[in-house]
This record gives sequence, C-alpha cells and structure tokens, in this order.
Amino acid sequence: MTKCVYPGSFDPFTLGHLDILARACALFGEVKVAVLHNARKSSFFALDERLAFIRRAIQAKGLNNASAVAFEGLLADFMKLERADCVLRGIRGAIDYEYEAAMAALNKRLYPICETVVLMASPEHIAVSSSMVREIGRLGGDIGSLVPEVNRETIAERLLADE
Ligand code: PNS
Repeated sequence: MTKCVYPGSFDPFTLGHLDILARACALFGEVKVAVLHNARKSSFFALDERLAFIRRAIQAKGLNNASAVAFEGLLADFMKLERADCVLRGIRGAIDYEYEAAMAALNKRLYPICETVVLMASPEHIAVSSSMVREIGRLGGDIGSLVPEVNRETIAERLLADE
C-alpha cells in the first residue's frame, strides 16, 4: 500500500488543495497532509487553525484514507519517520514547475527512495492560491468558490477582521 505525504503551508487550505487531495486518495492507500510548522516563517492562520480547516474538509468530503498532521524540520526526515513512499504536490502551471522540480530533486538527494508525484491542478482551480484567498478575503471579496464550504465563514471572518 503506497503511503503518500502531501506537504504544504496550507495558509489556508483551498478548494485547489482539496481537489488534489481527493484525487490522490483515489490513487493511493493512504494520504497524510503534512502542515508545515515553521517558527521562523509567519503564517496568517495559526497551525491549529490550518489543521482544523483541513480536518473539517476531509471529514465533509468523506476522505477515509486521508488525515492531517503537523511537521517541522526537513520534509525528508518526516518522510523517513513516517515510512512514507512518496511526496504529493499539485502544480498549476509553468511557474510552479521550476520550484517543484528543484524540491523533488533535493528531497530525493536527502532520501533516495522518496518519489515525488505531481498532479496537475484541475482547470477550474488553476488560479486558486492561498495568497489570493487571503488578499480577496481581507478586502471583503467573495471567497466562496475558493475554499471548502465548511470553512468559508470562519476564514472570511478571520480575514475581514484583519483589515
Ligand atoms: O505550500 P508550500 O509553502 O509551497 O510548501 C512548501 C513545503 C512546506 C513543502 C516546503 O517548504 C518544505 O518541504 N519545507 C520543509 C523544509 C524542507 O524540507 N526544505 C527543503 C525542501 S527540498
């Protein structure tokens, strides 16, 4: 059974992330969403909030082979600890590609049995990113088509309160 880790900042988890996760759940035995806890890089949403958003989305979508945990330090070390086979990443196009290719190469150097599997974003999610959700939400725009429905109100309220 292939165990796959889906790492990221998820600040916050978007419908694009959920789409990648759901498609990976159909391909792999187990998918663990690994939320980066980086004390030196600030995120808008706290680690606990980011985890709660993902867990709520997983439950609402009925993804029984998915879970969410926090990780810090090197992803390669987390992969070893988890005895995971592959890293899952989603890409939206050429801009994401260079970064993902470099990360995949370095992760393989640090942990040679680790494969990176990349899924292309579905066309309806090509323009969706966490940073755009934060910007649109802060300015009072509708984030309804950008984040999972179960988290919409909470995310919108938190972002609006920041303005
Ligand atoms: O959603 P993001 O911010 O693009 O995710 C980036 C992430 C968390 C996957 C990447 O920064 C990462 O793996 N960080 C952990 C530290 C690490 O292993 N760095 C070397 C990567 S080759």
